[in-house]
Amino acid sequence: MDHFQYKQGRLHCEDIPVEEIAKQVGTPTYIYSASTFRDHYRRLTEAFAPLDPLICYSIKSCSNLAILKLLASLGAGMDVVSGGELYRASLTKTPGSKIVYAGVGKTDREIREALNYSTATPLAPSSGIRLFNIESEAEFENIANIARALGKTCEATLRINPDVDPHTHLYTTTGKKETKFGVDLDRARAFFKKYGSNNFCRLTALHLHIGSPVYSAEPYVKSVTKALQLIDDLEKQDNHQITALNIGGGFGADYESNQSPAAIDYANALIPILANRVQNKNLKLILEPGRSIAANAGILLTRVQYLKHSGQKRFVIVDAGMHTLIRPALYNAFHFIWPVVVAPDHEPRERKEEMKLTALDLVDVVGPICESADFLAKNRKLPPVARNDLLAVFTAGAYGYVMANRYNSSPLPAEILGDHNQFTVIRKRETYDDLVAHELDQNLSDE
Ligand code: LLP
Repeated sequence: MDHFQYKQGRLHCEDIPVEEIAKQVGTPTYIYSASTFRDHYRRLTEAFAPLDPLICYSIKSCSNLAILKLLASLGAGMDVVSGGELYRASLTKTPGSKIVYAGVGKTDREIREALNYSTATPLAPSSGIRLFNIESEAEFENIANIARALGKTCEATLRINPDVDPHTHLYTTTGKKETKFGVDLDRARAFFKKYGSNNFCRLTALHLHIGSPVYSAEPYVKSVTKALQLIDDLEKQDNHQITALNIGGGFGADYESNQSPAAIDYANALIPILANRVQNKNLKLILEPGRSIAANAGILLTRVQYLKHSGQKRFVIVDAGMHTLIRPALYNAFHFIWPVVVAPDHEPRERKEEMKLTALDLVDVVGPICESADFLAKNRKLPPVARNDLLAVFTAGAYGYVMANRYNSSPLPAEILGDHNQFTVIRKRETYDDLVAHELDQNLSDE
């Protein structure tokens, strides 16, 4: 599944001993495996090959330029949600024809940047991005007005809210009626009636993203079936041609071994309902996967600072925390954690919350931040650890570094990309000077 494996009791990223990375780069550090990114991307393309989708990697999940370049080199398009992500996409030279732009709050500046998007020389005419994913009537009108003012046209997808429960965390549920995302199916037809013949912003596609992670194919089948029914109604009854269907992201990842369906399982459920439309009626399928590509392609490496007892509780205090990986604090998310070097009988054969091994200690793994929510694991059984030991927090490639912050004036960690037996620093660890650079700029101008 991924290329983070123990060899003779020592965790490796591909062929690189993780301890070696710690020695050279320090901790906390995000370590990614290039081969895992390649494998995951390939599995998706192969699984969905009969539908020949445009796969737009969801930049928000793991946005380091080296990762984006790697995926772009494999042919991936990009799913962006901000001007900043569009800028990242431009640095990877991803053509506009492979970029879709989602998000409920696009600003005028961001819309102009997307309309003017170009990877060519500044003087060449800009082609803009492939599709704006539209979330509301007000947004549609604004995009159409800005396009008209710039003398441009663009294409857009209406994000529908299919009101399907993805059975995931409340905070990452998006396809239910009560969330802020998309328009419901009834409003969708009215939307097309009102705006479907606008020439500056041509409404030609549908988009949905029901939540993340979604651990079964069934909610996709339900929501895509609803979307196809809407496409039929729009075409047959209202005379609007729909040329693309974007089914968003949300495919699961293995936080625990064998927790998630594989790409092929989602594909096998979706191919039968989409094949005819795609193969015979020229409907372009678009996917926006993030987590299923990135999550298991990254670990967070951290070092034990102190051990502490408090009543019955035993704490392992490490140098990463809610500032480096916020998912446990924010979603109560499970991440498998294990020492980087272990005795042979403690080599993990699988990653589970309850490990079937003996001589484990029950501990909380916590960070240095002054908040009780600053934990990486609670009531977790780990092999005995000592001060200065290294721990790996697994499945941290998606929504890890990108959600890290500088709380308690903590410099952001380094990012490393391992590939076979070599690794590269793809983002330097921040320094104290980095922390205050923008503040010093301000103060210096007053002197
Ligand atoms: N498309 C849209 C419109 C999205 O909102 C998202 C994720 C994706 C695609 C990519 O979904 P993925 O394939 O990565 O599941 N911070 C949370 C996840 C938030 C997801 C936000 N939207 C977490 O750490 O679990």
